[in-house]
Amino acid sequence: MSADAPAGQTAAANANPNGPTEETVLAVEHFTDRLFRFRITRPRSFRFRSGEFVMIGLMKDDGKPLLRAYSVASPSWDEELEFYSIKVPDGPLTSRLEAIQPGDKVLLGRKPTGTLVLDALTPGKRLYMFSTGTGFAPFASLVRDPDTYERYEQVIVTHTCRDVAELTYSKNLIAALKDDPLVGEMVDGKLTLYATTTRQPSERMGRITSLIESGQLFSDLGVPPLDPTTDRAMMCGSMEMIQDLKALMLKAGLTEGSNAAPAEFVIEKAFAG
Ligand code: A2P
Repeated sequence: MSADAPAGQTAAANANPNGPTEETVLAVEHFTDRLFRFRITRPRSFRFRSGEFVMIGLMKDDGKPLLRAYSVASPSWDEELEFYSIKVPDGPLTSRLEAIQPGDKVLLGRKPTGTLVLDALTPGKRLYMFSTGTGFAPFASLVRDPDTYERYEQVIVTHTCRDVAELTYSKNLIAALKDDPLVGEMVDGKLTLYATTTRQPSERMGRITSLIESGQLFSDLGVPPLDPTTDRAMMCGSMEMIQDLKALMLKAGLTEGSNAAPAEFVIEKAFAG
């Protein structure tokens, strides 16, 4: 790093004002052999809206960056950045990323973007955040943002995974929120995690699409079925999950929104390395 480079940036990164900055890994936590989270330094110039994604990566042996899109899992007010990642044994990035340790360097893109943001939805009463697998990441950001609770009376996060262990991140994060100095009082009575598994027996089972179609989700939560006058939704998961869930939103009369034209639901594919 050159003597006058801002903290967290290498001379190489500075050479390209559009290229990624080099950040330091602060913490790593592995949940299963398929899932882990990590925290890195956040450059002062890095601004994003809770729910957005950014490019993350590592430098290859040939000196070129290897980058993939990752939802930022920490809220926009946090001084550090958090990410939630899958480990793909043959994945060019994740097979290396899963070995990172505190003190290691990772690359961070400069242009966060995305549609899973509160501004892409019109005002409503109840906000659903539907997620499968690592699709919980953008919601890990949004459930820690006070703005979410200022805009909605009720916030329902659904997370569906194959096994119980894969729900550890969402369960721990949401359980800890009641003691959070910033949103602790806001989540009380407003935020619900609806967690289900599909392959391992647990208290609640089934794909979220089936639970919506059968009406079980709504009876379990004690809320009326989806209604475009009151309900807003965000969804993040596999391409198939998004397509199936989108069809159910449209059937319920909700229309898809974007940053340019806010409406009643927004979608984003969960990114895999
Ligand atoms: P299932 O076990 O029935 O495939 P993955 O680990 O493959 O990313 O999947 C995460 C979760 O998403 C799993 O519980 C999986 O259920 C569920 N899932 C996969 N495809 C869909 C879909 N089209 N609609 C709803 N849920 C889905």
